[in-house]
Order: sequence, then C-alpha cells, then structure tokens
Amino acid sequence: MRVSSRYVYVDAACRAKIERLSEQSNEGWFDLVPLEDPISFIREQLAAIERVEPGDDLYPYIVFGDVTNNCNLRCRHCINPDWSIATSKRMTLRELDKYVSLLPLFGNNSFGLSCRMEPLLHPEFIDLVESLPEHVRRRASFTSNFAVRKLKDEFFERIVAAGIDHIRISIDSLSKLHFEEIRVNAKFDFFEHNIRALSAKIKEAGRNNVLLTTVVLRQNLREIPALIHDAQEMFPGTSHEVRRPYEPINYIADEEWKEKSIIGEDEWAWLVKSIQKMNIPYARASVTNGNIVLSS
Ligand SMILES: C[S@@+](CC[C@H](N)C(=O)[O-])C[C@H]1O[C@@H](n2cnc3c(N)ncnc32)[C@H](O)[C@@H]1O
Ligand code: SF4
Repeated sequence: MRVSSRYVYVDAACRAKIERLSEQSNEGWFDLVPLEDPISFIREQLAAIERVEPGDDLYPYIVFGDVTNNCNLRCRHCINPDWSIATSKRMTLRELDKYVSLLPLFGNNSFGLSCRMEPLLHPEFIDLVESLPEHVRRRASFTSNFAVRKLKDEFFERIVAAGIDHIRISIDSLSKLHFEEIRVNAKFDFFEHNIRALSAKIKEAGRNNVLLTTVVLRQNLREIPALIHDAQEMFPGTSHEVRRPYEPINYIADEEWKEKSIIGEDEWAWLVKSIQKMNIPYARASVTNGNIVLSS
C-alpha cells in the first residue's frame, strides 16, 4: 500500500511527531515526543498510525521542521492560533544532526528549516545551514518574513553561497502601510532592505532559488497585481504563490478582524481576472481553489 500525504514535524527542541496532511489541525500539533533515537521514533510512531503495514512505501512522507519555537511577528491571519506555545528554544547543531538523520528514512526528500515559526530568529541560523552536509543542503529550504532585523551583507553572501534548494519569502505587501498592518510588529524598512539585498545578491550570483508567497487579505488585495510585477523585477522568473488563508479559518479567533480582512468569492474572482489580464510573459498561471501559482 502506498501511504499518501503524511509528514513528520520536528520542532526546535528536536521533538517530533508524524501526522497526516489532510488532518493538519492546530490541536495537538505540539503533542511532540523527544527525537532521541530517530529509527525507534519512526517505528513507534508508525505502529500507532492505522493503515501502515510492514513493507509500506514511506517515501510520500514529507519532513518539516523549525529551528526556532517563536516568531518576531504576530500576524493576525497566522496559522498559529496560540502563541503560548512559543519558547526561546533554538535548535542546536547536535539537534540539527538528529533532525537530518531522519531524512534517509523518507527517501531523502525535501528538508525544511522552517514550517510554522520564524527561522531567522535563530542567532546562528547561517551556521546551521552551513553545517548541513552538501547533499542535505541541496534539498534544504526555509520560509521567512525577512523582517527580524536589518540583515548584514555577509548574511546574504553566505546564504546564496550555501546553495540551498530554495529560500521562500513571504511577501504580503510592498506598501509600508499595508505591510505593517498585516504583519503585526514588523518594520517595513527591515523587510524592504532585506529583500532588496537578497535580490541583488541572487542576481549577482546568477541564481534563481527564491520562491514567493503572498497571503491575500482585503488589506493587500488591490495591490497584488502591482506587487506581482514588482516582485518579478526583483526575482525574475521566480514562482509566486498567491494564496487565501487556509480553510477552515477557525484558527483565527478575532471575529471583527476576520470580517474586515477575509475576502469573499467576488473579490477572489476579481484578483484571478486581474492577474490573468496582466498576461505576464514570464509566467504560467495555475489557478486552483484559493491559490494562484505563477511560475516561469
Ligand atoms: C507560518 S509562516 C512561517 C514562516 C515565517 N514566519 C513567514 O511568515 O514567512 C509560513 C508561511 O505560511 C504563510 N501563512 C501564514 N498564515 C497563513 C494562513 N492562515 N493561511 C495560509 N498561509 C499562511 C506565511 O505567509 C508564510 O509564507
Ligand atoms: S511571520 Fe509567519 S509565523 Fe510569524 S506570525 Fe506571521 S505568519 Fe505567523
């Protein structure tokens, strides 16, 4: 039997769990066990999951992890419903090794350094990346809000030189007003500095390993066609995912904010049409429910 859509999540304290993507729920997400011995962990966890039998193909598993247990921001639409789970724990090099040791069990598929938290809050993030064996680095990726602080040139040089599979930028707005409204606690100036510096380094190195994600809210809706255009100038030919907040949105507690910010079907239809009308020469638009992916 082929097991589909399951993932392993490892947090910054190197505690792990196996879940099904379809059952991704915020409840119990942090019901994690220490990853002392990865092989035993997998055996025990698999035994607890129905439908997995000896000899099943485990490769469809996806491995996700976080190297920090916190975020500098508190976006109201964030998939994390409860920040009481946040801690100051940061993954150590030893813990990262343990996390890495899970990979071969899953067909050496993608290796994420962030999932639900903010990786650049880790003071030694770049050292962690550089410590990865090359074959792991080539599969490694992370997503960041790029607004933790103004990052130094050295950071961009090292992250581009590290040759990781991809860097995903959350780019919800290029307007200071909208950005700071959506990305609560963020300073737009840090974000702008960082993505422009990354763009310059990526162009200089002739690489194209940046991906973009924009979450659509009423605050940024009308700006998105121009945002796509400007983002493509910074990262030519990159894949840009424009998504609505994941359903069901019951993880967002603030009813008044939901009313003000979550777009309706008409607004989504307007956006799809506007993007299609742009006739972006470098991109193919694939539109699925609540998600537009533009790729070169
Ligand atoms: C949870 S964040 C963690 C990484 C980092 N803190 C960041 O925001 O880029 C991962 C990605 O999920 C997106 N995201 C956050 N809340 C979301 C939601 N409710 N629905 C869909 N995507 C969401 C973020 O914009 C980001 O691109
Ligand atoms: S920056 Fe990312 S993890 Fe932090 S609050 Fe916003 S969406 Fe959530």
